[in-house]
Amino acid sequence: MTEISLLSEAARACPYHTYRQLRTEDPVRFMPDQNIWVLSRYEDCDYVLSNPTRFTSRESLSSANAYRNCPAALETLAKSRALPRQRTLILADGEAHQRHRKAIQNALSPARMLREFGPSIEGRVNQFIDAFIGKGHCEAISQYAIPLPMALVATIFDAPEEMIPTLKGWSDNFFAALSGHVPESVVIQAAEDTLAFESFILDRVAARRGGDGTDFLSRLTNGVDGAEALNDAEIVNICSQILVGGNESTISLLGNLIYQLATQDGLEAALRADPDKIPAAVEECLRFEPPLQAMYRITLQDEVIGGKEIPAGSKLMLNFGSANRDEKFYRDGEHFDLERDNTETLHLTFGRGRHACVGQTIARREAVIAVTALLDRLENIRLVPGDPPGRAGIFGVRGFARLPIAFDQRQ
Ligand code: HEM
Repeated sequence: MTEISLLSEAARACPYHTYRQLRTEDPVRFMPDQNIWVLSRYEDCDYVLSNPTRFTSRESLSSANAYRNCPAALETLAKSRALPRQRTLILADGEAHQRHRKAIQNALSPARMLREFGPSIEGRVNQFIDAFIGKGHCEAISQYAIPLPMALVATIFDAPEEMIPTLKGWSDNFFAALSGHVPESVVIQAAEDTLAFESFILDRVAARRGGDGTDFLSRLTNGVDGAEALNDAEIVNICSQILVGGNESTISLLGNLIYQLATQDGLEAALRADPDKIPAAVEECLRFEPPLQAMYRITLQDEVIGGKEIPAGSKLMLNFGSANRDEKFYRDGEHFDLERDNTETLHLTFGRGRHACVGQTIARREAVIAVTALLDRLENIRLVPGDPPGRAGIFGVRGFARLPIAFDQRQ
């Protein structure tokens, strides 16, 4: 088989051709440039996700640990107020994970989130649209896709609106450092931001300790409704996952949806004619362009996957971007198809099993409301000639950094 790298410029610009090559020629392949086994078939990814006792999540978020290779960042992190640092939730296994999962399901219960935040989503998206609709064009990421999930994150942390840019700046640096393929300066900045974020969370935790509040941080701090109270290090670590998880992938989802509306012939008309299809469009977009193209696991013992012997301690990349187009499960999977029945084989975009995304209900709801409002108020949504979209550029992320669109105002 020919040389293949997921780090090549072409694969980073659009990885799906490389994924198809991997799926058909070498679906369980060792990539020496990343020292990683890439699993590109649906069944193999599903198998690993469904067997958490054989595959640890302790490095589930990144293909390379950027902090470990950066002494200056480690020196900064040693000054943390929340030591010893702990692996929590998405990075934890077994009993620790179960404990954190119970706490987060309690603190982030979809029913309560939708009750508390849900009704304000519509009002907020309409405010964002008000700000640009008169101009006939906008930059859809900064003016639409970012503000909504960031408002949710601020609500979760009970942070004032003016803190949103700071929260977003921290999140961007944490997220970029996680990708593992960034300049050292970004990793050092992310370490400094970690200390600032910790202080922000721990001050709020201290103000809630022993109180009778029922907000997100009170629930983690004091243990409410049967969930255990967590310690400072656990809370800080979990909150950084909520900061990043709560906004970055939802931003990509919203951007990807707007891009589909702007570029897929007939999609806008089909959804306006039958708005009940909007959830199907969201689901198909989740399958077609997973915002997180992969999650990672490490083998706890020798394994044979797809006929390949993989030694214990090997890092696996679960290639969701490829699995979601696996021809064995998805007919014509390389195409966005509004009529596809995604309940037949559920895509892996939110993971599966013990670590499946706890924010998926709210992310789907945000996306449906955001698209509904756009279709209600704008039409003829299109890209802007001469001002092309810019991809996010973070390894493993499928989304946009910039997405200029033009539109007509609906009467
Ligand atoms: C389109 C948006 C989103 C995508 C694509 C996404 C994707 C994922 C994936 C793939 C996992 C599984 C990780 C694994 O198996 O290792 C996950 C877990 C998680 N997600 Fe999301 N997520 C999204 C939105 C959200 C939101 C809105 C929140 C919170 C408000 C959130 C919080 C979490 C948390 C806390 C976990 C860890 C669960 C655990 O380890 O038990 N996510 N997400």
